[in-house]
Amino acid sequence: MLGNFTYSNPTRLHFGDKSLEMLKEELALFGKNVLLTYGGGSIKKTGLYDEIVKILNDCGKKITELPGVMPNPTVEKLYEGAKLARESEAELILAVGGGSVCDYSKAVSVSAYCNEDPWEKYYIKQEDVDNKIIPVGCVLTMVGTGSEMNGGAVITNHAAKLKIGHVFGDNVFPKFAVLNPKLTYTLPKYQMVAGFFDIMNHITEQYFSGTDDNTSDYLMEGLMKSLVVSSKEAVKNPENYEARSNIMWIATWALNTLVAKGKTTDWMVHMIGQAVGAYTDATHGMTLAAVALPYYRHIMPYGTEKFKRFAVNVWNINPECKDDISIAEEGLKAMESWMKEIGLVMKTSELGMTEDMIEGIADAVFLLDGGYKKLTREEVIEILKESM
Ligand code: NZQ
Ligand code: ZN
Repeated sequence: MLGNFTYSNPTRLHFGDKSLEMLKEELALFGKNVLLTYGGGSIKKTGLYDEIVKILNDCGKKITELPGVMPNPTVEKLYEGAKLARESEAELILAVGGGSVCDYSKAVSVSAYCNEDPWEKYYIKQEDVDNKIIPVGCVLTMVGTGSEMNGGAVITNHAAKLKIGHVFGDNVFPKFAVLNPKLTYTLPKYQMVAGFFDIMNHITEQYFSGTDDNTSDYLMEGLMKSLVVSSKEAVKNPENYEARSNIMWIATWALNTLVAKGKTTDWMVHMIGQAVGAYTDATHGMTLAAVALPYYRHIMPYGTEKFKRFAVNVWNINPECKDDISIAEEGLKAMESWMKEIGLVMKTSELGMTEDMIEGIADAVFLLDGGYKKLTREEVIEILKESM
């Protein structure tokens, strides 16, 4: 393990089909005023909303509701939430939903008492929080982002055509998260598999960096292998508890800072995918799926050794009598077959991206240097064209 780092993760996880029973114990640790955030209505259809409200009432909480958190939450919605959190004197923000609701709740938690425009402060200037933070707890209903155990909070500004994440420190991580795999059964297949690719890509973003022998890489190989097995099962039978529970657990560990330790990490698929998302408002995991292969094929020559290891260790490619490039290519081909098998969108054109958007999207891509090759703007354009 190279480098120096501190590892700490303050989020308490309650996992399993009975995990919601732990919510009462958690609620006892926080004040009376609860801001209940949720999305566009799935929790009302599934009955989860009624269950949560009952638990909150039983615990004597005063509930202020903040519904309508959209996928890819917007800056306007952030302003609305920050105001409501302040006015209701929220002592806990309880996020019930997917990554969007969890991310949004963290963004609200740091914005309620922020004296500046939070978009400018946290997203444009990427400044740290220096004001009161309202604690957040999550009941997760969609798997993929890892938001339940990390400090990420991605906000979209449609007017500026920007989708930007801020990775806050552990003072902003959810204080607790309830992970009941059965709550994910009702996800439409499109969202389910988009989440699966989000998980895979969180891992590859961290895996494809560095050349040292690093324990994190071995952990990630295990997570990826488990994901491939369970995702195929889940597509065949969405109510396969074993598969869905494995995937829920993998998603959390894929992006809760553990496997990033000792790694420089890449994140360029996310940078390009998020810029596509800023223009199209497409589902996060699908934007990643559509740009990942053109990106990886582009950088593979700069990190061939690792792509070869990926092929052999994750996809069981037989390396005998083959040169490194062929092995590496076979690994990406195997990933492509898996992506098609589970039903991912493989083209940005199918997500609403058009040729005339490419220049603007390229301008919105942050060029990072943690992977095997720092891209130029021209290379981003090439990758975007190939992704159509
Ligand atoms: O809004 P409702 O009605 O609840 O419907 C949601 C939404 O339409 C639906 N859904 C969620 N759980 C459901 C369900 N439908 C039926 N049954 C259930 N159990 O699914 C749709 C998508 O939900 P959303 O929360 O948007 O998905 P996801 O979890 O993928 O979150 C995406 C957001 O997270 C950000 C993305 O950029 C995007 O804004 N990310 C956050 C990260 C982090 N915190 O570290 C990292 C990721 O890379 C990602 O960028
Ligand atoms: Zn992601």
